[in-house]
Amino acid sequence: MQTLTMSGVAICAALLRDISFSGGPIRDPAPRLYPAESVMLGNVSPRRRREFAWGRHHAREALRHLGLTSVPILPRADRAPLWLPGIVGSISHSSCNCGAIVGRSSNLLALGLDIEETEPLGADLLPIICTPAEMHRREWASSRFGPKLIFAIQEAVYKAYAPATGEFLEFHDVMVRTNDENGVFEAEIVNLEKPMSFGSRTINGIYLPFLGGVLALALRFRGA
Ligand SMILES: CC(C)(COP(=O)(O)OP(=O)(O)OC[C@H]1O[C@@H](n2cnc3c(N)ncnc32)[C@H](O)[C@@H]1OP(=O)(O)O)[C@@H](O)C(=O)NCCC(=O)NCCS
Repeated sequence: MQTLTMSGVAICAALLRDISFSGGPIRDPAPRLYPAESVMLGNVSPRRRREFAWGRHHAREALRHLGLTSVPILPRADRAPLWLPGIVGSISHSSCNCGAIVGRSSNLLALGLDIEETEPLGADLLPIICTPAEMHRREWASSRFGPKLIFAIQEAVYKAYAPATGEFLEFHDVMVRTNDENGVFEAEIVNLEKPMSFGSRTINGIYLPFLGGVLALALRFRGA
């Protein structure tokens, strides 16, 4: 089984469209933040500071691989990272791992990344996260990740959807279909009261296992 870092390399190789990923375990000591980031973060728990710092570290590493210099990455009002003009990206942390993915907006409209550990989702959460249709189809049945996969995909989809639309999504606003043979998903915004995202109700993506977890990546390619 690959580590998160290796899975990220596989993603970039598979997509080959100026996308860059950096990820790995969250550990001590945490990478340094820029003063502006540290001031913005304020007096948070050591755990939050560590995950934030690793997220910024991996975002800067991913940007460096695209040939961009290191800069502070402050959050927008909705907490999504404020990327440099011409860049789209996404950051995620689980309790043990953290990663960031970035790409050029000449190719990409949006990216949404979610990283989850593989421990199962509580049975009580199932009907909250899955739509009745997903529950009926047992969408996750062929996947080794179980319903946690649907959760990871929903979170990735939200991150690719919300910054551009400014709209909040409930879990039942999105219906997910997965294909475990090739690790791709299709998510549809089924709540018609929610606006489309870049002219479409469908957001596609991929998911990959790594040692101890699963990574979901929602992608909106320009012109796709
Ligand atoms: C934003 C949200 C999806 C983050 O997911 P999470 O699993 O708690 O945490 P993750 O570590 O994966 O992601 C956190 C990172 O997402 C990014 N993020 C935060 N808000 C965001 C937003 N509105 N849009 C895009 N990215 C966002 C940030 O980079 C954040 O890390 P940082 O604060 O250290 O920079 C979640 O907190 C949330 O607000 N959910 C409500 C919406 C939802 O889940 N609807 C159901 C799914 S459709």
